[in-house]
Amino acid sequence: MPRDQNLRDYIPGGILSLTEPSIQRPSAQSIEDIIAAASAELESIQDLAALDQWRVLYLGRRGALTMVLRGLASIEVSERKAVGALANQAKTTLEDRLKERVRQVNEESLKISENRDRLDVTLPGRPALKGSLHPTTQIVREICDAFVAMGFGVVEGPEVEWDHYNFEMLNIPKGHPARDMWNTLWVDYDDPEKEKAMLLRTHTSPMQARVMESREPPIRVVVPGKCYRYEATDATHEWHFYQVEGLAVGEGITFADLKGTLYEFARRMFGEERKIRFRCDYFPFVEPGVDMSIDCFACQGDGDGCRICRDSGWIEIMGAGMIHPRVLEGVGYDVEKYTGFAFGMGPERIAMLKYGIDDIRHFYANDLRFLRQF
Ligand code: PHE
Repeated sequence: MPRDQNLRDYIPGGILSLTEPSIQRPSAQSIEDIIAAASAELESIQDLAALDQWRVLYLGRRGALTMVLRGLASIEVSERKAVGALANQAKTTLEDRLKERVRQVNEESLKISENRDRLDVTLPGRPALKGSLHPTTQIVREICDAFVAMGFGVVEGPEVEWDHYNFEMLNIPKGHPARDMWNTLWVDYDDPEKEKAMLLRTHTSPMQARVMESREPPIRVVVPGKCYRYEATDATHEWHFYQVEGLAVGEGITFADLKGTLYEFARRMFGEERKIRFRCDYFPFVEPGVDMSIDCFACQGDGDGCRICRDSGWIEIMGAGMIHPRVLEGVGYDVEKYTGFAFGMGPERIAMLKYGIDDIRHFYANDLRFLRQF
């Protein structure tokens, strides 16, 4: 594309008919044509960059007027003086008009920005959006606080876990039917049977073994964290959820300690007047194993169409039990000396009970209408 074609694109409504500037035989008429065309274009230019292009096009080294001056040599001596004077005058005229237009353009753009930037100090401010903690975070903290108040520490562990800790160390060997209790998401899906299989932890219980391996009793910790299961979702099941694990190991710890600790927890979370109930349950890593329920705080056990306890008067809130001797042996503890208890609960379920949430899927649907309520 010829250079001047480029320049022409720059100038809105350009009417100059020059393509390649060339040395022409100048005449008074040609000079007047240039002034007329240049002035008309100048009026329509609105910004400084385009004004500069205009300057190059008419007054530049290869500009239209410069070409006229260079062409003076080719005309009759008698005409040269008059045409030369005209051309010089034209140059001054165009330079003056350019200066004036630059001044106008600057003034206009200043006006525009003054208007745009004008500050109305009387305008009321926009309130800043305030975020808040996710309901799961809130309830996890509340649960942990209740145990911290009873002398427990808080630790966290990996969400991607070895089969070894998630199952083996918890007395769930390969091929054991109890593995079916945890629908597992294998990371190394092709070969879950291989020696060092990896998975997304199905519960926080692997931290029982990790904590015991890394320290000596007495131990009192709670472990909050995310868990994952290969699960079809419904109102009470998510494929990803939280658990809070608890672990206490020491000399002379009995089932009475388990009961006392969890009773105190239930009262802190659900109210002073709470009653608790234990029933036998099976988890391979505890013996005896139980599930713990609280009496229904919604209907107080009246059982007349209660949505929360389904009229049973009781609500199951966690699994628990005395740590199985095989688990203690596995981490190298002396089972004659040490005993302990463990428990595990789902904070989303606790929150659902506490706040009357009817579907666990609300927690991770990222719907602000739900989240803003907490
Ligand atoms: N880990 C068990 C589960 O996910 C819960 C549990 C923890 C039970 C500790 C007993 C002791 O179902």
